Amino acid sequence: MAQNLIGKTAIITGASAGIGWATARELARRGASVVLTARREKRLAELSQAISAEGGKSMALAGDAGSQAHIDQLLAKALEWTGRLDIVIVNAGRGLAGGALNSDQSQWEALYKLNVLGAAYLMREAAKIMLERKTGDIVALGSVSGHNISPFSGFYGSTKWAIAAVAEALRREVCSQGVRVTTIKPGIVESEFQAVAGYTYENFNKSIARFGKVLSADDVAQSISFIISQPQHVHINELVLRPTGQDYP
Ligand SMILES: NC(=O)c1ccc[n+]([C@@H]2O[C@H](COP(=O)([O-])OP(=O)(O)OC[C@H]3O[C@@H](n4cnc5c(N)ncnc54)[C@H](OP(=O)(O)O)[C@@H]3O)[C@@H](O)[C@H]2O)c1
Repeated sequence: MAQNLIGKTAIITGASAGIGWATARELARRGASVVLTARREKRLAELSQAISAEGGKSMALAGDAGSQAHIDQLLAKALEWTGRLDIVIVNAGRGLAGGALNSDQSQWEALYKLNVLGAAYLMREAAKIMLERKTGDIVALGSVSGHNISPFSGFYGSTKWAIAAVAEALRREVCSQGVRVTTIKPGIVESEFQAVAGYTYENFNKSIARFGKVLSADDVAQSISFIISQPQHVHINELVLRPTGQDYP
């Protein structure tokens, strides 16, 4: 793909694994200066090294994506580094097995703090910066679990439903001023996500075996790259992608 992101700065949250890692590499390959964040500092250092080895530019700041203080610092450091902010991939997030009745209630608050409140705060603060230049792309990770709520991971799905609603609200507030806000809703992606969410062979792998090949983190990174590559007058508001064999949710 053309190196058409040269001179642009992109923040990617949740860059230490999975979709965030793959997206950071893809945007760096296309010439963007990428700002990496997640809690695991060592993983971010490994990613920075991999990006440098391919001739890309990156900086990393470890922290909790549910913390407003960390988000403020992240945005300040990004601006200090390159003086601009063009792209924000709001990706850090985690799953939780179970629905309203049987998910672990002790995790509800932390899940909303990360998947909804931290994500919404980053979107709001990034949008304020982008409005000054009347251009920019914010891409939030929703999920098919938030598009079609299923009891299997319904409580997690409610956080993805919520962040898609926040993204659409923000899009309506800023689109007339040149800033684009997109929700991307992937189906099942193989990553660290399943283990963190507490999915087991019995409640997950067994039931999805019939879907065939699931999505890779790179598949999602390519879709994100496509979303932000549209001409300025074209905006993909929402993109849903699933493994071809995924019939549910
Ligand atoms: N995998 C799927 O099937 C799937 C499907 C649809 C949507 N999604 C969404 O896609 C996004 C990425 O998922 P993934 O599949 O790439 O999962 P993953 O491999 O588990 O990666 C999650 C990333 O989020 C970071 N993270 C988690 N908690 C954090 C916190 N409190 N503060 C800062 N960073 C945190 C992790 O880094 P640290 O642990 O180093 O902090 C990691 O970099 C999530 O929003 C997820 O909900 C995933």
